[in-house]
Amino acid sequence: MKALVLSGGAGTRMRPLTHTTAKQLVPVANKPVLFYGLEAIAEAGITEVGIIVGETAEEIQEAVGDGSKFGLDVTYIPQEKPLGLAHAVLISREFLGDEDFVMYLGDNFIVGGITDLIDNFVRDRPDAQILLTHVNDPSAFGIAELNDAGDIVSVEEKSRWPKSNLAIVGVYLFTSAVHEAVRSIAPSPRGELEITHAIQWLIDERRNVRSTTVSGYWKDTGNVVDMLEVNRSVLETLEPRIEGDIDEESQIIGRVLIEEGARVRRSRVVGPAIIGRGTVVSDSYIGAYTSVSEYCHIENSEIEFSIVLRDSSIKGVGRIEASLIGRSVMVTPAPAVPHAHRLLLGDHSKVQISS
Ligand code: G1P
Repeated sequence: MKALVLSGGAGTRMRPLTHTTAKQLVPVANKPVLFYGLEAIAEAGITEVGIIVGETAEEIQEAVGDGSKFGLDVTYIPQEKPLGLAHAVLISREFLGDEDFVMYLGDNFIVGGITDLIDNFVRDRPDAQILLTHVNDPSAFGIAELNDAGDIVSVEEKSRWPKSNLAIVGVYLFTSAVHEAVRSIAPSPRGELEITHAIQWLIDERRNVRSTTVSGYWKDTGNVVDMLEVNRSVLETLEPRIEGDIDEESQIIGRVLIEEGARVRRSRVVGPAIIGRGTVVSDSYIGAYTSVSEYCHIENSEIEFSIVLRDSSIKGVGRIEASLIGRSVMVTPAPAVPHAHRLLLGDHSKVQISS
């Protein structure tokens, strides 16, 4: 069994962060989302992994290397353009050979790993096995329609009139039967070879396509709201540990991880929260569900339910909530007069100001 991990894609819903960072490398509890997937694959006993890379290839390769730190043997497979998930399978034929494989979308977060899923697949070996979950916005996903017996009748990709609210989760299991399917389909209206269409082709050919419906199992981290939500759920399972330096005037409450070299001065940190290596927090409040990455400065401020990426500083700005702050960002107070907001925002930034 091999794994094919998809780490191309433009990440348009995560702009401006994704102008400079691959969406799969945005951290959750200070670890890139992609790493959770690679760890889950290693845990399931798979070692040979192909990673599909696009424009952000260099950054992904720098982060993952040869895979040995995960116990994996990684082969990089460049995809010239994001031409779809089925296209990714098409160009991976040589790497995959005739082996069964799991296809894992690098920006998907699967709570509790994929070991059971893989074990079941290996036991029953259907031609394709997909995971489904109930969602509120089915038109944003691939959707499956099931009959009363629970068998898949059809699947469709991002329909305006979805036939169910059962979304296809970004982890798929295939035998080599999928190769004929990806060769047989045509690009969709969005110009992509859709894996959903390849699955429909297998259904039409009366191949054995199975689904399992799961709940509370999956998050697509394609947008900021979901990212904060994944961060929240991972922080809830954090091993509390204080490796950094806390002064006597500070209070650390609940599930908190302060990494080595971090300093906390005259502040209150209420978990679940993580403060990264080399970060300095002074005269501040860090509230629940907050991840502050490495080498940040938080001074005279309050921040809660947020993610701050490395090398950023937040100084004297009152309270920040539900925010995703990129790398090397500076958030500072404006001069007292004139009373105005002064902004230098990158392309596609989003700011909500309460005044
Ligand atoms: C892709 C698939 C879609 C699936 C989703 C899960 O969508 O095309 O069927 O439901 O991943 O994350 P995309 O991320 O390309 O919009």
